[in-house]
Amino acid sequence: MATAPWQADRPIATDEALELLGMGELAVRGRLVEASNATLWCELRPPGARRSADPAAHAVYKPVRGERPLDDFPEGSLAGREVAAWELSAALGWRVVPPTILRDGPHGEGAVQLWIETDEEEDVFLAILARDPRLRPIALFDLIANNADRKGGHLLPAAGEFHGCDHGICFATEPKIRTVLWAWQGERLSAAERRDLERLAADLDGPLGERLTALLTPDEVAATAARTEALLRAGRFPAPDRDRRVIPWPPF
Ligand SMILES: Nc1ncnc2c1ncn2[C@@H]1O[C@H](COP(=O)(O)OP(=O)(O)O)[C@@H](O)[C@H]1O
Ligand SMILES: [Mg+2]
Repeated sequence: MATAPWQADRPIATDEALELLGMGELAVRGRLVEASNATLWCELRPPGARRSADPAAHAVYKPVRGERPLDDFPEGSLAGREVAAWELSAALGWRVVPPTILRDGPHGEGAVQLWIETDEEEDVFLAILARDPRLRPIALFDLIANNADRKGGHLLPAAGEFHGCDHGICFATEPKIRTVLWAWQGERLSAAERRDLERLAADLDGPLGERLTALLTPDEVAATAARTEALLRAGRFPAPDRDRRVIPWPPF
């Protein structure tokens, strides 16, 4: 599974994507208009490739400088959260978050994520309503990451899988989860999910915890471990809190 391609058109596997994201030449080609921050669409070419050569892949570049300040998240911290989300997803062995790294770019340091060519044939809205099992790991990921913004538009169908994007407002210490993926509330975690969460808990106490500490505050790393432990103790997907908004607006 680790070598599965992230998209059908121009397939690219994780290792190749990480290398290209890290070493490749980034050329900004546009701005994603629906995005609230400076979210730039880029071409990625291997180092030394001619500028006229076809790009090897596309990427989303979110420079720290382009982040709109938010009341409830420390300034300049969103790019680090995007990378922390990738680290969490990879540590779980899940393919929720496309490969994402922190690097320098034309507008300074930022998060650079592999752009996924989505499959137009898939109906995301229908998948949510039909409790498509491919969305279940994303629902569980969001509970661990405390994702405050899982809209329908942040679900990316590609090559028979679903991935997610826009993890800039994850990892708060307070409960902030807002998601369209509540369909599994009350359901038991499967044996495989428990095993993955147990491995995650150990990793958060070790190497993953250390890596996340470079991207999040120590309290936020501890809160991620606490959410993982709480899920394991409950053994089920929780019901949404009743005292706050738990669905993003707009939901798509
Ligand atoms: N890695 C990606 N692959 C494919 N599409 C993406 C990716 N990242 C973002 N998008 C698309 O771009 C839109 C804007 O990006 P997003 O990360 O939501 O920006 P913002 O943080 O400014 O809201 C998303 O809703 C999605 O449609
Ligand atoms: Mg968004």
